[in-house]
Amino acid sequence: MAVSLKKGIYWVGAIDWEIRNVHGYVTPRGTTYNAYLVIDEHITVIDTVKKSHAQEMIRRIKAIIDPKDIDYIVSLHAELDHAGAIPELLEEAPNATIICSKEDINHLELHFHREFPHVIKKTGETLSLGQRSLQFVTIPMVHWPDSMVAYMPEEKILFSNDAFGQHLASSERFDDEYPNDIIFEELQTYYANIVMPYAMPVRKALDAVSGLDIEMIANAHGIIWRKPENIARVAELYASWANHENNGSAIIVFDSMWGSTKEMAYVVAEVLEDLEIPYHLYNLHAHTDDISAIIPKMMVCKYMFVGSSNLNNTIIPTIAGFLTYAKGFKPRKKVAMAFSSYGWSNTSYKEIEEYFRIMGCKTLPNYNIKYVPSTEQKAEFKQFLLEQIKEEQNTVDDSCLI
Ligand code: FEO
Repeated sequence: MAVSLKKGIYWVGAIDWEIRNVHGYVTPRGTTYNAYLVIDEHITVIDTVKKSHAQEMIRRIKAIIDPKDIDYIVSLHAELDHAGAIPELLEEAPNATIICSKEDINHLELHFHREFPHVIKKTGETLSLGQRSLQFVTIPMVHWPDSMVAYMPEEKILFSNDAFGQHLASSERFDDEYPNDIIFEELQTYYANIVMPYAMPVRKALDAVSGLDIEMIANAHGIIWRKPENIARVAELYASWANHENNGSAIIVFDSMWGSTKEMAYVVAEVLEDLEIPYHLYNLHAHTDDISAIIPKMMVCKYMFVGSSNLNNTIIPTIAGFLTYAKGFKPRKKVAMAFSSYGWSNTSYKEIEEYFRIMGCKTLPNYNIKYVPSTEQKAEFKQFLLEQIKEEQNTVDDSCLI
């Protein structure tokens, strides 16, 4: 059934309990596609849902009105998890006009290879619905060129589309109905895997909406924010993440053919414990299906230790996959180190360090051990690592951390 946000404003979206992968981002808790229905002099739907869930949305709308009475369909973002059901909705709502950004209509026409009746809106422009209105703010590259948010001043609701969302399927709709620790965990995972590469556009978008008086954030995925302290907190977290702030922690990511690189990884862990640096260790032998789970930890860490055995003169594909995925998120202000066990070709560290270079990391000297590390070699590695990290911690000039 539809859920009321405020008098005459309804959630009419869809719950995707089954989705487990959004282009590589593993979503163990599923997701929702949030669409909203506003009953006013001009009946308006804000965003739609994925095509596979079109009839679920239409059923919720029909429980309230006849879709033939819909005047406007606001498309804040043309990605198909939100715009995918526009054609189905238009079949039920033949008199509706699409309200969208210039880039959005271009994307819609390229997605569906047809024309749509539409009106383009830019930042600062409004749409009167009757007693209420929508003020539009384009937020390009958060996270597509067409992205836009809409603010309803009469109700103090920000329709934020992807921004502030979480991939979280639930029959509850609001943050005062669901465990907040899970919502915030999924907020961070979502930001890291969707929004993280676009830090500068996020900062601009936060500036653009900073003056708005917001009582509710009606996003396009997951739980709707309406607790005042949570609304303030999500804005603070987005600002912190967009400014690449770290919490001083570390991640250790490795794969190992015969356990030698793994032994080195656990030496790294010992050193971090001695230095009281919080860390998370990922053995990609066991995590091959879920590298996206590493990204939220990577986003807020200071240190990245990446190890790979040398396999056929290159790194193990799991590590190459992780590093390829990770560099797309443009992590910044990281201190990184490569380590490996090798047989006859000591080259793994070079490939790992090339990824570090692309990511703009400050790189600590690599460390590599031929074949199986002896007790003495592990002790030497531990001492070397302790000295390197302590020296880095005593470095005043962090100008190389971009
Ligand atoms: Fe939820 Fe960018 O789509």
